[in-house]
Amino acid sequence: MNALPIQRIGVVGAGAMGQGIAQVMALAGLNISLFDVRPGAARTAQSALVTTLAILQSKGRISQQAARDALALVQVVDRLEALDDCELVIEAIVEDLEVKQQLFRQLDELLDETTLLASNTSSLSITAIASVCRYPGRVAGLHFFNPVPRMRLVEVIGGIATQPDALERLRALVRKVGHYSADSKDSPGFIVNHAGRAYGTEALRMLSEGIATPALIDALLRDDAGFPMGPFELLDLVGLDVSVPVMESVYHQFYEEPRYRPHPLLRLMQAGGHLGRKTGQGFYRYDGNSASPLTLQPVPTCAQLPAVWVAADDDLGKTRVLALLGQLGAHVETGASPSPDALCLLAPLGDDTSESALRHGVDPSRSVAIDTVLELGALRCLMVNPATRVDMQEAAHALFSRDGGHVVMLRDSCGFVLQRTLAAIVNLGCDIAQQGIASVEDIDMAVRLGLGYPHGPLAWGDTLGAGRLLLILERMHTLTGDPRYRPSNWLRRRARLGIALCSAENSMPAAAEPL
Ligand code: NAI
Repeated sequence: MNALPIQRIGVVGAGAMGQGIAQVMALAGLNISLFDVRPGAARTAQSALVTTLAILQSKGRISQQAARDALALVQVVDRLEALDDCELVIEAIVEDLEVKQQLFRQLDELLDETTLLASNTSSLSITAIASVCRYPGRVAGLHFFNPVPRMRLVEVIGGIATQPDALERLRALVRKVGHYSADSKDSPGFIVNHAGRAYGTEALRMLSEGIATPALIDALLRDDAGFPMGPFELLDLVGLDVSVPVMESVYHQFYEEPRYRPHPLLRLMQAGGHLGRKTGQGFYRYDGNSASPLTLQPVPTCAQLPAVWVAADDDLGKTRVLALLGQLGAHVETGASPSPDALCLLAPLGDDTSESALRHGVDPSRSVAIDTVLELGALRCLMVNPATRVDMQEAAHALFSRDGGHVVMLRDSCGFVLQRTLAAIVNLGCDIAQQGIASVEDIDMAVRLGLGYPHGPLAWGDTLGAGRLLLILERMHTLTGDPRYRPSNWLRRRARLGIALCSAENSMPAAAEPL
């Protein structure tokens, strides 16, 4: 195969994705031939491109000349044979293996063996698509995200037969159009749709355990942890008709791996037509376009706040709680055990409030827990156990609202909302690294660019503390018995050795390289 830069590109499928791909490629100075099997569809996409470029120009994002040059580079063709002068053909047709294989078989027969063939599939195996070709070495995945011009990430996927130089040319092309090229093995969900499995599935587990409402879970993850959207807002936006098949497909492709397990509630909601925004009802009800906001519980009035006795599972948690209590002017007891009337404030990692009270040998009826996985800001997440007295719950609520901070109160849960969600995300990122699906750097970049998370899972794990996350997962695993929470070996080894999650192996025996 040659190593020359790619200049002429065929795009097959002129839907939203094909049009977006044509746009970014033409703006990068590449020649595009656009084909669609539906008569008139490619021309419609070309007209839409004229409008889009005019809008970009009116907003001052591109010059008139750039718009003109780009449009001059896009031509519509009405036969696949007309793609015979292309160095690369990108397929962006329906997400159906048989239909894609049929197209690749045709392209493989029509085009010179040096022409690269790429699929924009988000869920099908590149190896399976390439299996019908005489020259599978030239077939790869080039997974763009929607909308293509704004989502500056492309996963470059090699099937088991893909030639290394084909991948190198595709990476260079992605960089030329100004997107980030992340290498992924041919594995279910590649990087982004694999790493994204923890967020929604953990939220659904929390909902099904009845520990909090969708609005509360969303508020904590969005406003405290910094996710662009809460998991339920996201499910409602995408629509269950789209997200459930992806969840189920990744779960089954990994032979029912519990980390990716969806929840039966989704099927129920689908059956009832509660698909999300598009049907006016999902996890939220939509009046016009807005979901019902979170209503905080009113702050109880407490004539006199009790003294507070603190027990934390690690020094960082204790430091954070004591600093906040100091700020709130609380009377903090320093004895080895709490006085008879004290509020027992626990800062557990992975334990629920019940288990934490027993671990620290304090009265469960006076115990309330607080989440210290992040810095304690204006939103404070507390948790009670089934025995917590109402007066102690109210006292804790009043105390942590004293400076105008907001309190959310959870029912007992192994790990709070943030602990279990962040631990699940980091654990999954670690396991993707362990399986050698992608490099640490590409996992983190792909998750930030493709999912909009504020940090990549491995860098985030290092900031939160690998040891803390390991403890959270180990305890959740023990307490729930659910293999979903078993820690990844990548995480366990690095936490135990005291090295960064972002660190790759110093040396990898060639025979041990993951498949
Ligand atoms: P779309 O349904 O809007 O467009 C698909 C186009 O392909 C249609 O115009 C259709 O006429 C044409 N087509 C179907 N079969 C064809 C064939 N045999 N030959 C030529 N043209 C054919 O779909 P959209 O949203 O543009 O997505 C296209 C593909 O891109 C998806 O199937 C998926 O593989 C991939 N993708 C989609 C994403 C999305 O968010 N929509 C995200 C990432 C990847």
